[in-house]
Formats: sequence, structure tokens, C-alpha cells
Amino acid sequence: MSSTAKNPASPVASPLEGRRVVVMGGSSGIGEATAAFFAADGAEVVITGRDQGRLDAAAARIGGKVSAYRVDAGDPEAVDAFFAGFGAVDHLILALSGAKGGGPFAELDLADLAAGFDGKFWPHVRVLKAALPTLGRDGSVTLVTAASAHAALPGTAGLAAINGALQAMVPPLAVELAPLRVNAVAPGLVDTPWWDGVPDEQRKALFEKVGAATPVGRVGRPEEVARAIHMLAANGFITGVVLDATGGANLATGR
Ligand SMILES: NC(=O)c1ccc[n+]([C@@H]2O[C@H](COP(=O)([O-])OP(=O)(O)OC[C@H]3O[C@@H](n4cnc5c(N)ncnc54)[C@H](OP(=O)(O)O)[C@@H]3O)[C@@H](O)[C@H]2O)c1
Repeated sequence: MSSTAKNPASPVASPLEGRRVVVMGGSSGIGEATAAFFAADGAEVVITGRDQGRLDAAAARIGGKVSAYRVDAGDPEAVDAFFAGFGAVDHLILALSGAKGGGPFAELDLADLAAGFDGKFWPHVRVLKAALPTLGRDGSVTLVTAASAHAALPGTAGLAAINGALQAMVPPLAVELAPLRVNAVAPGLVDTPWWDGVPDEQRKALFEKVGAATPVGRVGRPEEVARAIHMLAANGFITGVVLDATGGANLATGR
């Protein structure tokens, strides 16, 4: 074969060029960084969120073929309406953040835990169900869960339950929905706007403390988790996997 002949397995050819990618929760943090990777690949990227201003700002930062739609994943009618009129989707990324359900178990208000499920578990499941008829056989779904699901960190039993419930669905869905691929990425602590609600000094101290206890010596960056999500979507031979992107923070310490 001549050195100029096209090799179909060439790593230069992006399997995502021209493909349609929907990033639910793409106006900020991990979702926005993920959308940027796909856009750089030449994919047709759609980002969603609840705030049109944040969506437009994110679309402008990302550039490329990006469009933005306001869809509240907590609203079943809005989710159904979005996918009903939408056409075919190749890759679906679920990066919707929840806010509730954390804290020491003895003090955990059960209504707060239920709100945590309403904020993350149910929106992810609802969107995945609504999107199913639009997803191609050679496409993929990637859920963004959290390493707390299996890291045994005190104060995260509620978050472990919410994210663990999502992660538990990955292997059976990968088999049931095949050849559609289903995977998840479980991030450790990542410096995203999700943490903006924590006062600056407190946030800085927390990041330093968690970073110091993490094998790589720091907390994560959104683009590092995005790279893992992008890899799972792009690699047609990976399904049923929950991939940790934690800098090693979830590894057993032997304590
Ligand atoms: N950052 C971390 O340390 C960390 C650690 C472990 C796991 N994670 C997980 O990573 C994922 C992304 O988190 P992040 O840190 O990137 O958060 P983020 O910066 O707050 O981004 C969350 C995105 O989700 C959208 N969103 C939230 N609720 C929504 C809803 N009901 N309907 C539509 N859009 C919604 C937000 O837009 P609007 O608010 O404008 O709607 C935003 O685009 C989440 O699942 C989170 O649990 C994050």
C-alpha cells in the first residue's frame, strides 16, 4: 500500500465529524467542555440548559457548529417536546447537575435526598427514555455520574445513592439497548461553576484539601472529564463501562 493511500483505521479521521451530538447540561462546566471537544471534531453539537443567556454565552465560547436550546430536564413535557421535533441523534451526553442530597447521613433530610433524586436521577432517566427513538444504532449515550457512587466518602451516602443508581443502570442498558452503546464517566471533584455557590475562601480551602489527598495532587479540570466522555462516545468498541476520572481520588487507601 502506498504511503498516501487512505487507511480506514487512521486515527486522523474523526468518527465524530458531521455526527449529531446532544449535550444536555452543555451551558457550563463539564458539559460545556465536552461540547467544545465534539465541536472541534467537526460534529454538529446541540447544547441544552435552563437559562438562555448561559446557553448563548456557552455557544459563543465553544464556537463551531453549535446550537443552543432551552430545555428544563426536570419538566417531562419540555423534554418530550424537545426530542419529538428533533430528528436523529448520534451521541447523547447527559451532564445535568443536581444540587441536593449531600451531607452527613444522620442529619440528612429525606426530603432533601428525594430532591436530589429529582434533580439528577430522574432528569437523566427521563431524558434517556425520551431520546431513545432518536438515537441511531451506531450511536452512544454517556452519563456523567460521580465518583462518590463508589468512593466511600463520609457525607456522601445520599450522593452515592443517586449516582450509584444511575451507574447501576449502565451494564443492563448496554446489553438491552445494543448495539447502541451506553457508558458513564464518574468524575471526582472538578473545578466547575457548580462550586460557585461556595464562598471563595471556603472553596479554595476545600479544593486544596481534596487536591492534597488526591494521588495527582489536585482537583480536576472540566476538559479532563470531557476528554474521557469524548473518548467513550468516539470509540465504537466500548460499552457498559463506568470510567473514573478522579485523579485517583477514589482509590482505596487501606484505612
Ligand atoms: N464539578 C464536580 O466537582 C463534579 C463532581 C462529580 C460529579 N459531577 C457531575 O458532573 C455533572 C456536570 O457537573 P458540572 O460540575 O459541570 O456542573 P455545572 O457547571 O453546574 O453544569 C451543569 C449543567 O447542567 C445544566 N442543568 C442543571 N440542571 C438542569 C435541568 N434540570 N435541566 C437542564 N439543564 C440543567 C446547567 O445549566 P442551567 O443550570 O442553566 O440549567 C449546566 O449547563 C453533574 O452530573 C455533576 O453531578 C461534578
